[in-house]
Amino acid sequence: MKFFVDTAEIKEISELSEMNLVDGVTTNPSLIAKSGNDIKETIKNICQIVPGPVSAEVTATDINGMIEEGKILHSLAPNVVVKIPLTWEGLEACNKFTELKIPTNVTLCFSAPQALLAAKAGATYVSPFIGRLDDTGINGVDLIGEIRAIYDNYDDLNTMILAASIRNINHVTQVAMIGADVATIPPKILKELVKHPLTDIGLSNFLDDWASTGQKIR
Ligand code: E4P
Repeated sequence: MKFFVDTAEIKEISELSEMNLVDGVTTNPSLIAKSGNDIKETIKNICQIVPGPVSAEVTATDINGMIEEGKILHSLAPNVVVKIPLTWEGLEACNKFTELKIPTNVTLCFSAPQALLAAKAGATYVSPFIGRLDDTGINGVDLIGEIRAIYDNYDDLNTMILAASIRNINHVTQVAMIGADVATIPPKILKELVKHPLTDIGLSNFLDDWASTGQKIR
């Protein structure tokens, strides 16, 4: 499973990138707003740090506007993936970008039929939002399983499942077990993946025992 990082914060992306933990990046209008920075500068800067796919989202809701904005975003760097909302107009725009061979990430997916439509439109990625589904009382991880099962039934559906709206480390485990192609993970949660209380206790015990020997390795 690929790890994308779900942020528009350059500092966080650089830090994780140095650890080789970033296969790609996803942004959205809310993350750009939170960063307080200009979208085009931000996307260009991210693309200089990360050679993998970097999703930048259109904000127009009409087909012509989406196509125009998507072309502008894609012109910023060759690894920009145009992120489009899962609406009827968004699917039309996705079809157009498929024809133009511009990669797409169809976002705000909350159901299996929506994911099927995104794949039929030739989306490179579809982003099911599991945390936001959980918030409504529906198990978001189950949706990843449904989409995986559907896509695996048909050789001509090549869209990659990008598990989004990940809120905890358990989400990461579960989507990896189901076979999501990508998980886009907020930096805070990515760093939490390393943590386990038994690791901390075990290390502390080892170091105490080691100190009692009086030995040194260097
Ligand atoms: C992914 O592409 C989305 O930007 C993101 O995962 C949404 O996450 P949220 O529901 O925590 O805002």
